Amino acid sequence: MTPQFRTVAVIGLGTMGAGIVEVFAKAGLQVYAVDGSDELAQRGRGFVTTSLGRAVSKGKLEQTAADEVLGRITFTSELTDLADADLVIEAVPEKLEIKQSIFSRLDEIVSADAVLASNTSSLSLTRIAAGTKHPRRVVGMHFFNPAPVLALVEVITTLLVSQEVVDGVRDLAIRLGKKPVVVGDRAGFVANALLITYLARAIRLYENGRVSREDLDNAGRIGIGLPMGPLTLSDLIGLDVVKEVCDVLYAATKRPSDAPPALLTNLVTAGRLGRKTGHGFYEYD
Ligand code: CAA
Repeated sequence: MTPQFRTVAVIGLGTMGAGIVEVFAKAGLQVYAVDGSDELAQRGRGFVTTSLGRAVSKGKLEQTAADEVLGRITFTSELTDLADADLVIEAVPEKLEIKQSIFSRLDEIVSADAVLASNTSSLSLTRIAAGTKHPRRVVGMHFFNPAPVLALVEVITTLLVSQEVVDGVRDLAIRLGKKPVVVGDRAGFVANALLITYLARAIRLYENGRVSREDLDNAGRIGIGLPMGPLTLSDLIGLDVVKEVCDVLYAATKRPSDAPPALLTNLVTAGRLGRKTGHGFYEYD
């Protein structure tokens, strides 16, 4: 039977997780928004409140509607609160052991019919699913940054997931106003396999001194017609995330062009991760 989703939970309230919470709550679902401590949960509340406030100040959303959206969200640091969730989507850092440990705990908390989804950008869904009690209910639900704005959702399948779960998550994405694409579990799935290869190439052109960062970005934005140039976009995604996807692509293809450029690795090592740390290829306030 195709699952019905009324109550969802999002674990990890960073940029992606907070954006996903907003998307679900705006679509009328009850949402548990979970992070590892009360402080982090409150930080997540701050991200969602700021984003809704921006929409209100632009006249895109009534204050009462924003209040209703916030009213549908329960911020918590307790995974045990999620017992009645029909769908849990994790958006925690890209570490396999963290994701596996969360899913193992969820196996003991949610009902056997609840769907467990991962927003991973780079890790193997099959490895995440294989470590759980019921791999038939584990699926990828990969949003794009900024999640409240970008319509694409990759629904990532494995050999183990049931067709009902895939259909249910695809239908849910449509209900959220998104455009789902169903893709197999391969390095970079589809969108990142296309995008990150382009970003790595762009970073190499800059690293080799071929072009200034501004001219490179203008070439990508104006010349190719993308909304942002490649360095600005890398800063938005997070340089750690870009590097992680490069690592996964390179491990799969062994193509030197897929390996993370040295400058990218150095920026990540230096803690310059882009917008979220205030410094990447560019500086931010
Ligand atoms: N949260 C919520 N809304 C946001 C937002 C955010 N972080 N950033 C921008 N917006 C909204 C704005 O409020 C504005 O809304 P309205 O039209 O209703 O007023 C709208 O988006 C457009 O924003 P701006 O006018 O400020 O700026 P813009 O027109 O330059 O658009 C952008 C900004 C939407 C980020 C656009 O530049 C864009 O689409 N860039 C490309 C982003 C992209 O390619 N993302 C994919 C990254 S890959 C990924 O995420 C997957 C992975 O695994 C790595």
